[in-house]
Amino acid sequence: MEAEAAPTIKKLALQVLPTVFPSALPYQCYTDSTKSLYLVTSGKDATHAVDNVGTMHAALAVSTALMALPDIKVIVNAGTCGGFIKRGCKIGTVVIPTKGAFHDRRIVIPSTPFEQYGIGATDLTSCAIANEVREKLGYLGGCCSSGDSLDHSKEDDEIMEGNEAVVKCMEFAAISQVAKMWGKDLVGVKVVTDLVDGDKPAFEEFMANLSSAAEALQASIPQVLEIIKKEE
Ligand code: ADE
Repeated sequence: MEAEAAPTIKKLALQVLPTVFPSALPYQCYTDSTKSLYLVTSGKDATHAVDNVGTMHAALAVSTALMALPDIKVIVNAGTCGGFIKRGCKIGTVVIPTKGAFHDRRIVIPSTPFEQYGIGATDLTSCAIANEVREKLGYLGGCCSSGDSLDHSKEDDEIMEGNEAVVKCMEFAAISQVAKMWGKDLVGVKVVTDLVDGDKPAFEEFMANLSSAAEALQASIPQVLEIIKKEE
């Protein structure tokens, strides 16, 4: 969301790079003076004038950006998430996921692999750069489960439990699959704004904590980038 990206765009003095996305797409790309860093946001929905969220925009924006910028080596998916208290999350906890999976793609057709295809797990445990960032900054690991809803059904809960999800968001599993298709490293940086297994509605906690999470991201991203740059 724009609110998640705004403090980082300001802190790193990023400027709009208008040549990355075709005009039909609502996405925006920003870059720094040395063009060593590109930040992509999903823009706004033309009908409802709210920020574009969810797996479709995440996959389309990242994939289209990579067509224009094929030399990118590492993708960083920075944003907010819901965290599970039972897996050690509190408001403000930062997670660098070791796995992405979907919890709302239920395709149960007996005797076929469609069920596992729907869950679409991507193992990131061997991503050395993500492991290094997590270890150096002392962040949590684990599964980031993604779907296109802010809330979660009983069926979503069962799938998230099956993956021992530590956090829940609306983009990471899709970006994990795009990164894998393109052969790129992926570092997720997910800050907890609300507690999935807590007692408050997600939207209330999310809205209350969005700006402090964006500030936490702005503080964390330069440290993450520093580690990535040293390894390149
Ligand atoms: N982003 C922040 N909190 C979230 C939640 N609970 N579910 C999905 N995406 C989120």
